[in-house]
Amino acid sequence: MLKIDHITIKFGGLVANNDVCTEIQKGQIFGLIGPNGAGKTTLFNIVSGFYAPTDGKVIFNGEEIQGLPSNVINGKGIARTYQNINLFKKMTVLENVMVGCHGQTKANLADAIFSTKKKRLEEEESIEKCHEILKFMEIDHLSHLKASSLPYGAQRRLEIARAMASNPQLLLLDEPAAGMNLSEKDELTQTILKIRDKGYTVFLVEHNMKLVMRVCDNICVLNHGIKIAEGTPAEIQANPEVIAAYLGGGK
Ligand SMILES: Nc1ncnc2c1ncn2[C@@H]1O[C@H](COP(=O)(O)OP(=O)(O)OP(=O)(O)O)[C@@H](O)[C@H]1O
Ligand SMILES: [Mg+2]
Repeated sequence: MLKIDHITIKFGGLVANNDVCTEIQKGQIFGLIGPNGAGKTTLFNIVSGFYAPTDGKVIFNGEEIQGLPSNVINGKGIARTYQNINLFKKMTVLENVMVGCHGQTKANLADAIFSTKKKRLEEEESIEKCHEILKFMEIDHLSHLKASSLPYGAQRRLEIARAMASNPQLLLLDEPAAGMNLSEKDELTQTILKIRDKGYTVFLVEHNMKLVMRVCDNICVLNHGIKIAEGTPAEIQANPEVIAAYLGGGK
């Protein structure tokens, strides 16, 4: 589904991703791990169209997408969450998810101005769809609350719900367990498996190794922008270079 093909990105003298190659198959949960500053979020920023790489290609369903605007990439079926929660704080939970639906609606400006039946029907359908997604993420009972009033773990779930609203095939989750307590992390582990079972492919950046090792089919390890290993959770946990660079560090 996704091929990262010799991706390099430089910020001045810093090479944040250095000739990174990997592939994600449809239906996988694919992990991307590595120490702070390894280049994980940068790679997500390239795949989702926030940065154009200095060199290399990103191929999604057979099509080159590197350098395309993020809204175009989202329209092709890639959605993401953010390492730093990026919700519309003053909007309700439901409204935040509806923002995610936005690219999917067909009504035009005239339909909106004259509030045509087509527009109203579309609005009702998207409200229904957003409630379904919120139910799936187990936060529908909070749909009328302001996003900022949600506990931290629920805000992270809302970010995932909003990403799902754009009907993606591939979901990029950047540290979804960050800041969660132990029971929230366990619940999120189950939710990520449930997301995969629903048919989404998941590309996951996460520092919580219990979660990563439990859910991932395959894992790619970055260190200083360079891929140092790739394999199954068992292979990664036994890899001396990964242990030295990351897993042995007590993180
Ligand atoms: N827009 C930018 N301009 C300059 N440097 C950048 C930019 N974006 C990222 N970097 C640098 O690239 C390197 C990789 O950062 P990145 O955020 O991808 O790391 P990460 O693996 O996600 O780390 P963490 O686990 O802490 O989130 C860092 O040294 C960072 O400072
Ligand atoms: Mg990051």
